[in-house]
Amino acid sequence: MLTILSNNRLQSSYLNKILKSSLSSIVQYNPRNNSLNEITTPYQIKLPEGNENVMNYMQYSKRGNPLEVLSCGKHKYEIHDDQVCVALQMSSLNPADLNTVEGRYPIKPELPAIGGNCGFGVVTQVGKNIKNLSSGDWVIPGKVAMGTWSTHLIAEEQELLKIPKVRPEFASILMVNPPTAYRMLHDFTNLKKGDWIIQNGATTEVGRSVIYLASKLGFHTLNFCRKGTNFDSKKKMLKDLGADLVLSGEELKNRKMMKKIIKNIEKPKLGLNCVGDFWVPKMASCMAKKGVMVTYGGLSVGTKVAVNPGLLIFNDLSLKGFWLSRWVQTHSRREREIMLEHICEIMGNDFPVHLECHNLTNFKIALKRYYSHLQGSRKIVFLNQY
Ligand SMILES: NC(=O)c1ccc[n+]([C@@H]2O[C@H](COP(=O)([O-])OP(=O)(O)OC[C@H]3O[C@@H](n4cnc5c(N)ncnc54)[C@H](OP(=O)(O)O)[C@@H]3O)[C@@H](O)[C@H]2O)c1
Repeated sequence: MLTILSNNRLQSSYLNKILKSSLSSIVQYNPRNNSLNEITTPYQIKLPEGNENVMNYMQYSKRGNPLEVLSCGKHKYEIHDDQVCVALQMSSLNPADLNTVEGRYPIKPELPAIGGNCGFGVVTQVGKNIKNLSSGDWVIPGKVAMGTWSTHLIAEEQELLKIPKVRPEFASILMVNPPTAYRMLHDFTNLKKGDWIIQNGATTEVGRSVIYLASKLGFHTLNFCRKGTNFDSKKKMLKDLGADLVLSGEELKNRKMMKKIIKNIEKPKLGLNCVGDFWVPKMASCMAKKGVMVTYGGLSVGTKVAVNPGLLIFNDLSLKGFWLSRWVQTHSRREREIMLEHICEIMGNDFPVHLECHNLTNFKIALKRYYSHLQGSRKIVFLNQY
């Protein structure tokens, strides 16, 4: 590991550096000196040593502010004949996971619960009755909210999905964000090569997955993100992923400018919204007749999704919603496996993943950095180094 920086100014310049890079980058946060240490990619898998059979995790016994209700837990485990033990490698911290802990998400795990929904691990032990998994297989949770902020996951075979051995950093994000992007590109309108998609929140992991998948599938993207302090770097990062156009919210509000841009492209048939606020009516007014605007997130808290009624009446614009958990509940395991295989085929080798890793025991520090947005465009993950 190489220590790179230790104060906020340097952090910001490092952020610029990773935003400009078209490769994955993984850094580990060191709370002792507030520094970020670079980890060589692809990340090397590590497995627990010894036979202690102890798992450590972050749990909550009442819903509320994650900083207040989450605490470390530890217990000895054993597996039954119908169970598998998974050594979790990386588990991410996603906006919905925090909403689940707060009790503001439609999924309400039975309490006490271990936090976390997304991540991947390696099977280390299998019970006598297990038929389709063996030690060394890579898996992701097959159900929501199984509790991935943990060193281990004890589960039945049908609760897990075997995945191809792609780059570990990509496996860490495979469960939720790329499938969300993939479904939205496939399920709402019949996109043909050369068609355009308009989206906000383009720097989110879903937004970046949309850009990458769209460009590989032959679609064009018109992308918006917040200007912030690193707009040129964000723009470069998104263009490197395959974005055709990247603009700021200020530019979206500029009617004259948008009119000129839309005149030069085919009007987008698909709109993707994870923010809300002014972005939705402005984006909707750029869309093609019979276009579909899909809302899948509400990053701007308390916002409404509203459009000019004329767009619904005269342009036949549709407003729809997407929730991956609902898709998972209504589709078979085989359909999900086929989708994951296709995603790994398209994105597994070179979709750039930017991670900021924390030890599970430093959970609250990770959370504070997340709330202060100090991780920048990196996804926060808990890394189990055993
Ligand atoms: N419906 C589903 O099935 C589903 C599945 C997955 C995710 N989601 C939702 O999709 C959204 C993105 O998730 P993710 O995991 O991809 O996020 P993420 O990678 O954690 O994205 C974080 C980025 O969002 C941007 N952001 C934060 N607040 C914003 C705001 N108020 N306005 C505009 N941009 C803002 C910031 O980028 P900048 O600083 O560059 O602006 C930030 O870096 C979330 O709302 C999540 O809940 C929904």
